[in-house]
Amino acid sequence: MEWSSHFSARMARMRASEIRELLKLLDRPDVISFAGGIPDPALFPAEELAAASQRILSDPARARAALQYSVSEGYLPLRQWIADYMGRRGLSCTADHVVITNGSQQALDFLGKLFITPGDTILTASPTYLGALQAFNAYEADYASLSEIAQVKAKFAYVMPDFENPTGTSLTLAEREVLIEASAAHSVPLVEDNAYDALRYDGEALPSLIALAAQRAGGIDRAHVISCGTFSKSIAPALRLGWIVAPRPVIEKLVLINQASDLHVSTFTQMLMYDIVSRIFDAHTSKIREVYKKRRDAMLAALEKYMPDSVSWTRPEGGMFVWLTLPSGIDAAVLLQRAIESAHVAFVPGAAFYPDRAGRNTLRMSFALNEPDRAAEGVRRLAGLIPKS
Ligand SMILES: Cc1ncc(COP(=O)(O)O)c(C=O)c1O
Repeated sequence: MEWSSHFSARMARMRASEIRELLKLLDRPDVISFAGGIPDPALFPAEELAAASQRILSDPARARAALQYSVSEGYLPLRQWIADYMGRRGLSCTADHVVITNGSQQALDFLGKLFITPGDTILTASPTYLGALQAFNAYEADYASLSEIAQVKAKFAYVMPDFENPTGTSLTLAEREVLIEASAAHSVPLVEDNAYDALRYDGEALPSLIALAAQRAGGIDRAHVISCGTFSKSIAPALRLGWIVAPRPVIEKLVLINQASDLHVSTFTQMLMYDIVSRIFDAHTSKIREVYKKRRDAMLAALEKYMPDSVSWTRPEGGMFVWLTLPSGIDAAVLLQRAIESAHVAFVPGAAFYPDRAGRNTLRMSFALNEPDRAAEGVRRLAGLIPKS
């Protein structure tokens, strides 16, 4: 069978993630890898999950509910918990404004399905989260820079206000306010992705974009922002639990999309997550923040110590990533090959995160997985490959 002529037009834009391909090469124990943007598995609350699972399955009434089909909106107590969590970031909303998704990656896919007609323009930062580009590519989106919000007719703007993947940078309160005003003035909805918001190591938490928009408009149902969140970075990504918080007209459509897609997220997993987060979320996230903060500090100190003056980098207040800019003549993809072969160090070349593949002299390093000494050694080895001027 000649399959390619049977595939839909949208498949033309769907490519394998360069990062996933890269991760396959990195299972070598001799490589110090800064590549994967994944949480440290040693920090997963496995024992608490085992106990929660036991509690649910050993109670006949809860077990019956956990193993049965359920509503597409998601498990009500978990939706209520998320509404309260959003309340702590300044948003007044109810469980009716929340839909549970299979990770926030599915949230991005659903939003692509809801809003994007082939050829529509989406505004993004550049660089931006590769998974968002992949999700929106499936709906044949075109991209323009967020800075063109006044010039381009866009379907929505995709923004990470806290500790962006890949740059680690955040929007200041003033930048958030400017963005809210500009997007409202040009009737461009904002999709905010808060994947890393629980991982703040310094500074005051700032209000989410949806909180600011709701305050400005007089309530969430009049706001022009849709907010995505996830338990992947705070609890465990394999549970695949994320959410969308949005004005009710948007939620109603998302529920229809969810019904047609996979009916609902696993009832058991939702009950498990509710049991866990209602007991340990604050204590657990405070514990993992302490670990990641030390690792971030170690990486920043090592960059300061070893990198030549020709290299600059971001100083994130949270999340998992530091973003490096190399001298303009250096191609990070070529550097990666040398780094793996001769220095046994890995990172992600930055071009993958640009809609137009620019930024060849940039790279992303995750600090989440390496203990401080190992991170310092990896940075030292990498710095040795970069010319001094
Ligand atoms: C910015 C951002 N958004 C969304 C996701 C998707 O995460 P998940 O589907 O596990 O919630 C990630 C994962 O790395 C991410 O970095």
